[in-house]
Amino acid sequence: MKITFLLNGEPVCAAVKTGTETLLDFLRENQTLCGTKEGCNEGDCGACSVVVTDRQGRAQAVNSCIMFLPQLQGRAVRTVEGISGPAGDLHPVQSAMIEHHGAQCGFCTPGFITSMAAAHTNGTRDHDTALAGNLCRCTGYAPIIRAAKAVEDAPIPVWMHDNTPPSAIASNDTVFCPTNTDQLADWFMTNPEATLVSGGTDVGLWVTKHHAKLSKIAFLGHVADLSKISENYQFWRVGAAATITDFMDAIKSEYPSFHKMLTRYGSPQVRNAATLGGNVANGSPIGDAPPALISLGAKLVLRRGNDRRVIPLEDFFIAYGKQDRLVGEFVEAIEVPKGQSALRCYKLSKRFDQDISAVCGCLNVLIEAGLVTQARLTFGGMAGIPARAKKAEAALIGQKWSLGTIHAAKAAMADDFNPLSDMRASAEYRAAVAKNMLERYFYDLEGINVNVREVIA
Ligand SMILES: Cc1cc2nc3c(=O)[nH]c(=O)nc-3n(C[C@H](O)[C@H](O)[C@H](O)COP(=O)(O)OP(=O)(O)OC[C@H]3O[C@@H](n4cnc5c(N)ncnc54)[C@H](O)[C@@H]3O)c2cc1C
Ligand code: FES
Ligand code: FES
Repeated sequence: MKITFLLNGEPVCAAVKTGTETLLDFLRENQTLCGTKEGCNEGDCGACSVVVTDRQGRAQAVNSCIMFLPQLQGRAVRTVEGISGPAGDLHPVQSAMIEHHGAQCGFCTPGFITSMAAAHTNGTRDHDTALAGNLCRCTGYAPIIRAAKAVEDAPIPVWMHDNTPPSAIASNDTVFCPTNTDQLADWFMTNPEATLVSGGTDVGLWVTKHHAKLSKIAFLGHVADLSKISENYQFWRVGAAATITDFMDAIKSEYPSFHKMLTRYGSPQVRNAATLGGNVANGSPIGDAPPALISLGAKLVLRRGNDRRVIPLEDFFIAYGKQDRLVGEFVEAIEVPKGQSALRCYKLSKRFDQDISAVCGCLNVLIEAGLVTQARLTFGGMAGIPARAKKAEAALIGQKWSLGTIHAAKAAMADDFNPLSDMRASAEYRAAVAKNMLERYFYDLEGINVNVREVIA
């Protein structure tokens, strides 16, 4: 099987056998484009960043080390070699990096240049967020941020405008690339042992870190209807293969706290590839989206062949590593209710950026005439699955919205969870911060600043 895509403006054809050949290996070993570096090989450092232009024409930085070749079919890829023009003209971000002394050893620099070029093409001015997925061990970030700022208003070079080539999508015995959900549903019924790959930000690591051999793979990224986000006045219907980036754009104005929490989900490179469906389907107890979705009362649309069932998202998570998913069934969509302005999301991790949560608390209460009438308090990192604090919720319902009630609910929460100690946090610390998140929530709804980066003593 061959796939075709634009590479630095020129069409290329790549042979695919296993489906798990990574873009990074293809660039360095097949194309001898060695500007793209291999650092961590697990999506954490950004040394392997390249720009991928999607079908909507958006330039997005992604990590090539955990992107499989079939995900690139029909896309346009730009490596650091293609960031400068065909006649050797430097891109404005390259000139600015020289001018502002943005490189010392230079190992991280191709990754920074591609992330900066993607951000520049998109008109992004929040450089801290745009570069959160790129690590530099020697220069320090200040000169790099100065370089990014210096060229904010510079015109986008003409060679950066890639038109993604239309092309037919091929499959072979191992690799299946469906283009609509019906095809996927039929194929998965007869190949239920296959691995579904959406953004590949989990599956990529099975391959690069655990050397997994996958016997059959279906790539969901080409299924147009599975990537769609539609809405009515009550809810969004988010296709399982919609990326975290696209989901963030959809909810930004309705749920600013959820959006802000997701700006700390991995890095731009991770969010541009990772999907909401993947974040749910992997069943992780520390995924960031499920606690917020459960607190909103989101529903999951599961599909098996022509049959669909819709279940509350919280019922999907049965126990650690066990989800309510039948053989041959896949996640088709997530329905996310609108209009719940009391939702607040707090992510606690050791690093601010690019880190997995130790505890993620997503709290949502309804207060009517001073009394709590509904409460959904969902936590990640406190149990083997994302779970609601039902005893604490019961202690809130029917009570006056006051600090006294919050203290009673904090005490009740002691019976809700029995968290583990691991490298991210001890059990005692987790139990303490989950309770403190409830108190923080009280002050937050009272309009008091609770952002730990903005609180001034
Ligand atoms: C560097 C890095 C940082 C990260 N940071 C975070 C973070 O801050 N917060 C966080 O929550 N996660 C984080 N992750 C984890 C990862 O990004 C998420 O779990 C992601 O949402 C997975 O989505 P995906 O589309 O990439 O899934 P994939 O890797 O494609 O798939 C994940 C799993 O879900 C299954 N699957 C995918 N789609 C479907 C479907 N439609 N139906 C049924 N099964 C399906 C796959 O078979 C696989 O088992 C990080 C990962 C990396 C590499
Ligand atoms: S090599 Fe570190 S993110 Fe890819
Ligand atoms: S310049 Fe050396 S790691 Fe960034």
